[in-house]
Amino acid sequence: MCGIVGYIGGKTAQDILVNGLKRLEYRGYDSAGIATLDDDAKPHCARSVGKIAELEKVLAAKPHDGKIGIGHTRWATHGGVTVNNAHPHRAGDIFLVHNGIIENFKELKAKLGSYEFKSDTDTEVLAALINSKYDKKTSLADAVAQALKEVRGTYGIIVFSAREPEQLVVARLGSPLIIGLGKNETYIASDASALLGYTRDAIYLNDGELAICTREGVDLRNLSLETLNAKTETIEGNAEQIQKGGYDHFLLKEIMEQPETLRNTLSGRINLEQGTMRLGGFGLSAKELREIEHVVIVGCGTAYYAGLLASYYIEQIVPEVTTEVVVASEYRYRSFHLPKHSVALIVSQSGETADTLACLREIKQRGAKVFGIVNVVGSTIAREVDGGSYVYAGPEISVASTKAFTSQVATMLIFAGMLAEARGGDRSTIAKLAQELSALPDEIAKTLETHADEVKALAAKYAKYDDALYLGRDTAYPIALEGALKLKEISYIHAEGYATGELKHGPIALVDSTYFEIFNILKGRLFEKSIGGLQEVRARGGKAIVLTDAPKSLEIEADDIIRLETDFELLTPILLNTLQQLFAYHVAVARGNDVDQPRNLAKSVTVE
Ligand code: AGP
Repeated sequence: MCGIVGYIGGKTAQDILVNGLKRLEYRGYDSAGIATLDDDAKPHCARSVGKIAELEKVLAAKPHDGKIGIGHTRWATHGGVTVNNAHPHRAGDIFLVHNGIIENFKELKAKLGSYEFKSDTDTEVLAALINSKYDKKTSLADAVAQALKEVRGTYGIIVFSAREPEQLVVARLGSPLIIGLGKNETYIASDASALLGYTRDAIYLNDGELAICTREGVDLRNLSLETLNAKTETIEGNAEQIQKGGYDHFLLKEIMEQPETLRNTLSGRINLEQGTMRLGGFGLSAKELREIEHVVIVGCGTAYYAGLLASYYIEQIVPEVTTEVVVASEYRYRSFHLPKHSVALIVSQSGETADTLACLREIKQRGAKVFGIVNVVGSTIAREVDGGSYVYAGPEISVASTKAFTSQVATMLIFAGMLAEARGGDRSTIAKLAQELSALPDEIAKTLETHADEVKALAAKYAKYDDALYLGRDTAYPIALEGALKLKEISYIHAEGYATGELKHGPIALVDSTYFEIFNILKGRLFEKSIGGLQEVRARGGKAIVLTDAPKSLEIEADDIIRLETDFELLTPILLNTLQQLFAYHVAVARGNDVDQPRNLAKSVTVE
């Protein structure tokens, strides 16, 4: 989820580019850069790690005076957080900034043979590919179009060349790109918020389109360079509304973008044909994977619940490996014992949670290898682990964690698949996991689209309650815990998550008509048991909502039921959780709360 900007006109490009990048910093900021062409068509490039302020320091020392340029703020996907990996990337006379993922970058890199790459990024491969087409007889637009025909993945790109200094070439597939029309100047950005204050007249590029942008205007083409009619629209709303993607809150945007962010998480990590999966960042050989006998999963809050859910799957998929899931703030003070051949998964969205970081250090000190399951690239946890994987959910702005949870679970499931594969685990189970993981983004999209209105109506019905129980068995139990956390942290309703089987051991004393209960009920071996718990609650006047994948043929008596239609056998709990996320969101909105910044909370708890 990077931010890209471009400018060509009569003003100094640098200030316009930097201001635009600042507007896009919420999209990710582990590094940034700009490249410009001065009036002699001489290129200048400035890049830095860290926030835009670091780039401004570089530019203060060596300002750019060119009137054409491009800029980029990076949320790393391929390649660590280094200046070399920061955009813009150069190849020959061309400079390029890119938002998206080139899935076949390794294949393209191999075809570019002797080219000397300076970075680990997929983007530099695209720049080199364009350059390889850009001979004296080929225009920049033509070279870009030819190269993009060989690309698989997503892109929003802006390219310029010192050889053709009067134009910027842009193209998009899957990543937004907007062209702002000024008087003898043209602006480009990945998000309209960067254009506000300069122009509200814009051309929203569509997938498969390319445009040649000059001071005079925009020449819209397809990848065969056939001319297309450009439709000028008006940019509506203010910067904040645009950054939320048109949603009222970042939380809703982050819930609804889970299909897209999960595709980024899974990108290049599952080979469906072979039914195999790989997390490159773990750097573990098959032998080392086979030697693992115990996995400790460490986290706080939602990260802990993601680990708890993953542990159920690890036990199912790799039964000979034992798991232990611990709350970091407790574990760090226990005199815990680490069995031989233990590894630890350190789960954290921010990568800065103090208790989780303390556990990382303690476990490492005891000689066990620690692997990060982290979202924020370059974060402290990401830098201190022995290896691991970024979950690539993109910046999670809302304090309540939603898309990161889903991506964390998916990443740990890939780890489970790797363990099983290395140990000669059951091929059909591994293949089933690979198949459902690959289908998960679409299933989440279908779940959200199909049931959004039902969930919103449920929220309106139950928003005034002050007490709730969330219940689930087996892999739905961690989901019940996560659902209760989501509701309590944004609606301030007292919500507790419990194992359904635990109801009769005390919590059922709470149940009366002032409570509502959300039951996560999975079809299959524990269905009848789950119905038992539901009946206990209803017999005591509790208002029961059931979220289930059980078909209508399985009768359920409840106050409200949402039935998912899915063929999933493994990952249904993740689908049920997206309904809980939406439910909590709408209840919080109905209660007039600050959904993105709930009272008393911080996005990252860096204190103990
Ligand atoms: C989740 O919605 C909460 N914001 C909180 O529990 C969070 O999951 C916890 O603080 C851990 O944060 P981390 O993933 O950044 O380490």
